Amino acid sequence: MPLTDPVLSEARALIDARRYRIALRRLRQDAPEGTERHRLLGLAHLGHREPDKALAHFRRVAAERPDDPDALLHLGQAHQTANAPFPAVRWFERLARLAPGLPGIRALLAGAYRRDARYHDALATTRTALADGERGIDLLFEAATSEACLGRDSDALKSFEALLAEDPEHAAGWFGSHAQAMHGLGPDEALRRLRRATRCGGANGKYWAYLCATLLLLGRADEARAVEAAHIVPAPKHRPLVDGALALLPDLAADLRLFGSSGRLLRHALTEATVPGLVLEFGVRRGTSLDHLAEAAGQEVHGFDSFEGLPEGWVNAPRGVLTTGRQLPAVRANARLHVGWFEDSLPPFLAAHPGPVRFVNVDSDIYASARTVLAALAGRLMPGSVVVFDEYIGNRSWREDEYRAFQEFAAGHAVGYEYFAVSPFTKQVAVRILSIGGKTATA
Ligand SMILES: C[S@@+](CC[C@H](N)C(=O)[O-])C[C@H]1O[C@@H](n2cnc3c(N)ncnc32)[C@H](O)[C@@H]1O
Repeated sequence: MPLTDPVLSEARALIDARRYRIALRRLRQDAPEGTERHRLLGLAHLGHREPDKALAHFRRVAAERPDDPDALLHLGQAHQTANAPFPAVRWFERLARLAPGLPGIRALLAGAYRRDARYHDALATTRTALADGERGIDLLFEAATSEACLGRDSDALKSFEALLAEDPEHAAGWFGSHAQAMHGLGPDEALRRLRRATRCGGANGKYWAYLCATLLLLGRADEARAVEAAHIVPAPKHRPLVDGALALLPDLAADLRLFGSSGRLLRHALTEATVPGLVLEFGVRRGTSLDHLAEAAGQEVHGFDSFEGLPEGWVNAPRGVLTTGRQLPAVRANARLHVGWFEDSLPPFLAAHPGPVRFVNVDSDIYASARTVLAALAGRLMPGSVVVFDEYIGNRSWREDEYRAFQEFAAGHAVGYEYFAVSPFTKQVAVRILSIGGKTATA
């Protein structure tokens, strides 16, 4: 809608020019009160990366104009920027119902489902749109990424190929495809794709960190050092993944394997967990990883989660992020869910389930949750047990998260261990316990 008020039109132009701070000042001081002022204030706050403030304004717009497609779109976007995928989905779904013909709506909805870990819904949305003849790079990207998240790496690779055939300069497409190429096509092809991603216009500088970390883990130290000197030293914000890989080097197993897919790593890690015993997962959310474990374990598996999201804020995300709104996922017949906070659900479970732990997937992100789990399982982990951490390296705060929890646990319980599977792309690491509290495999 054209803006007739000169201050509102000026603010709109400032927002389009990404001059958010000045737009905010003009709007606050001089713009007439009303829906358009709130819409523009919301957009300016959103552009300024203040999604919570943006949400307050967009809510006012939506309260006055509940069927305004822009208001619904902005609410969805602001929730997404606020790292709140669960409510974002609600707004995008409403928008899709209200304006099904809106260009790009199905790619937006698929992206919202994907961020909410509803990969099957994301895939169904993209497939319907593609079957209807809709075209677009965003749809292909969403299809490829959801397939990757579901562990379907050969499908994901095909979808990335389709995307790259349409847009050979799609940096995120090359980056995504490198991880999916790791298994079927091997590390050299994965590295080629990663290097190709770095050469695309507008490529994210973090790709250099993935390249450097992967080279380090492959033992190609000279190439890694060259990448580090040229691209990481001048951009220290990309150091965490490189530092994380460096921290793993002294404890790499002789049979180390690199992965790019979470599902593949989990399945491999399970086959290496030779101690008969419990198979446990901490952090289930929508059940994607539990599904891999349940399918591959050949026994009962147990998933623990509050389904209320993280109990405290983490990195840029608020407390409660990753909630499913307490909805439980559908799981395979051999999977049992244990609902609640780990400190409440784990002690009674352990009292009722004696014996060693064969395998643990720690996918609960924060230090406190990993510490709770490891402390409770201390007497049950044996030489030969396997622990997979899902966010071990790569995040800005990795030294203070799962890594710290495990390092403290290892020091406190005399744990000898080695890393036998690593996925820089998904930040997962699989640990083989070699000895614990003086016990070794042969002792
Ligand atoms: C990253 S998600 C898990 C993702 C899942 N493994 C998958 O495959 O998509 C992290 C989950 O950990 C749960 N969580 C974190 N700390 C917890 C705690 N102390 N007690 C219970 N649940 C917790 C959150 O509710 C959230 O669902």
